[in-house]
Amino acid sequence: MMKAATSAPGKVILFGEHFVVYDRPAIVSAIHLRARIEAWIHDQPGVWIGSRRLVNHPASRAIEYVFEKAGFTSGVTLKISSSIPSSVGLGSSASIAVASAGTTSLITLGRIDEELVKLAAGEGEKIIHFNPSGIDTSIALYGGGGLYTRSRGFTHIEIPLKKILIIDTGKTRKTGEMVKRVKEFMEKNKERFDKILKREEELIEEALDAFRSLDLERLGRLMLENQSLLREVGVSSLEIEEAVKIALDAGAYGAKLTGAGGGGCVICLADEDRIEGISKIISNRFKVYLTELSADGLREEKI
Ligand code: MEV
Repeated sequence: MMKAATSAPGKVILFGEHFVVYDRPAIVSAIHLRARIEAWIHDQPGVWIGSRRLVNHPASRAIEYVFEKAGFTSGVTLKISSSIPSSVGLGSSASIAVASAGTTSLITLGRIDEELVKLAAGEGEKIIHFNPSGIDTSIALYGGGGLYTRSRGFTHIEIPLKKILIIDTGKTRKTGEMVKRVKEFMEKNKERFDKILKREEELIEEALDAFRSLDLERLGRLMLENQSLLREVGVSSLEIEEAVKIALDAGAYGAKLTGAGGGGCVICLADEDRIEGISKIISNRFKVYLTELSADGLREEKI
């Protein structure tokens, strides 16, 4: 193909970020905010946006990986359009890497090779992350809802929530730095960290059970407990704590940071018929997104 386009969704981690780096399970859902990558073949080798050559970027690294594997020696020009805010925990770079690999898989092979896309996007993620677990690229690729473990990979699960409220604290941060912060905590507090990992694992089991019985009150309590474990390992922030408090005061069942923390976004769980009212209250202080869960994964788009 001379030209192609794909798109991939952003994500929210409902339970288990950071601990997933240490091979504990996490629950994740694709959201209805997407990154779209259109690309067409270019005479000059490399990845271009207009007259600028893109280097050392998740998109260019993912594309170069696909080119290497497909034996493709020309280049591509890209058009990136995304509704996912960047550096706030919603998986923007992973969805850009996945859609970049997906589009160039279509161009070079005439089809989306999921295994190739997964490996290529993983390479792209390494440019900005430190030791990525693979959860962000997996959900951007497969979509829906899932249980992810580093050693066992991604399994689709039903997440019986229609909408989730996302609060953007307005503070951006680097995922790699937050992952390093947790590693420092682990190195200084080995015994306590093992206990935290054990509790997190139990908490995920309890959350899966609460999803099955649609017990939102229990899910809310589990979210708050997950938030307190994340606070203890050093990835919460004043803005996150403020957003959690405002959400609870407004009537949410629970709230926690999502993604790497240190700022970024907070997710908030509430009854479907109250969620719009709660969203209005929070919007007096923070930017909020009310988004649907379980969006499609990587898909081909019309040009
Ligand atoms: C970032 O979205 C999730 C982290 O757990 C890092 C990772 O899993 O690679 C913080």
